Amino acid sequence: MKLNTRPLHRRFGVEILDIDLRALNDAEFEAINALWIEHPVILIRNQLLDEREQIHFSKQFGEINIHVRTDIRSRSNPEVVLVSNLRLESGQHIGALASGEAKWHTDSCYKPKPDTGSILYAIEVPEDGGKTAWANTQLAYEALSEDMKTKVNGLRGEFAYQIYSVDITEEPDVHKIRDLTPDVVHPMVLTQPGTNRRSLYLDPLQTYGIEDMPPAESRALLDNLVAHITAPAFVFQHKWQRGDIVLWDNCRVLHQREPFDPDTPRLMKRTTVFLPPDQYPVPFQP
Ligand code: SIN
Repeated sequence: MKLNTRPLHRRFGVEILDIDLRALNDAEFEAINALWIEHPVILIRNQLLDEREQIHFSKQFGEINIHVRTDIRSRSNPEVVLVSNLRLESGQHIGALASGEAKWHTDSCYKPKPDTGSILYAIEVPEDGGKTAWANTQLAYEALSEDMKTKVNGLRGEFAYQIYSVDITEEPDVHKIRDLTPDVVHPMVLTQPGTNRRSLYLDPLQTYGIEDMPPAESRALLDNLVAHITAPAFVFQHKWQRGDIVLWDNCRVLHQREPFDPDTPRLMKRTTVFLPPDQYPVPFQP
């Protein structure tokens, strides 16, 4: 079946129109999945979902993840992570990321088997700031010189949880989580089954080196690749409205969030899923 859509960006991403995620039939779900296989970022507006409905929608793509951090999970449903600057009366944040800038990164790459599909639902958003951007690592790979493609194929990046996060001092739990999540290595080039399209896989906040490469050389190569991936030609930035839901594939995009006024409430609910390795790129042997 063909859904009503429009492009988000000249080169990637699609908005699906006229659909209610609470009442999807199998054909509509299959059509959404087919669009996500094609486009690493999907926007669906005007949704009214409770947590159970968001979980139900997410689980249709693959097994759902429970985040290793307990303090940012929804108190009712551990499958849902709160991304918010809201605080309890005690001053404790209810969720992750607060109102500062979230620099370019890719979710869950610090795990041996990352949950690569992120589904973020906007409940309350500020009028100004807090926009989220995605940089397409598939288009970025395809635009590399042949020499650079040869150089990066076969390399493996070294990853650790939040190693370069600016928020590390504000998040005491980060040290605890790093103890729970030993460093991992992943290929820096991933291939999508079916299309055979390749994408770059690295994270400016969580890739600290390249296997068998001296630190200065690997740092320079990583910085060079990040600058290339985040060039304007490969970036789509989204201004959120209440009721928006965005699906992205962490193996084909990096993402970043602008800071916003800490006194303006922002509440987003995120689920992440293990996208099927026979349809989506993954950084491990299935
Ligand atoms: C994230 O970085 O996963 C959240 C992005 C956002 O808050 O818009």
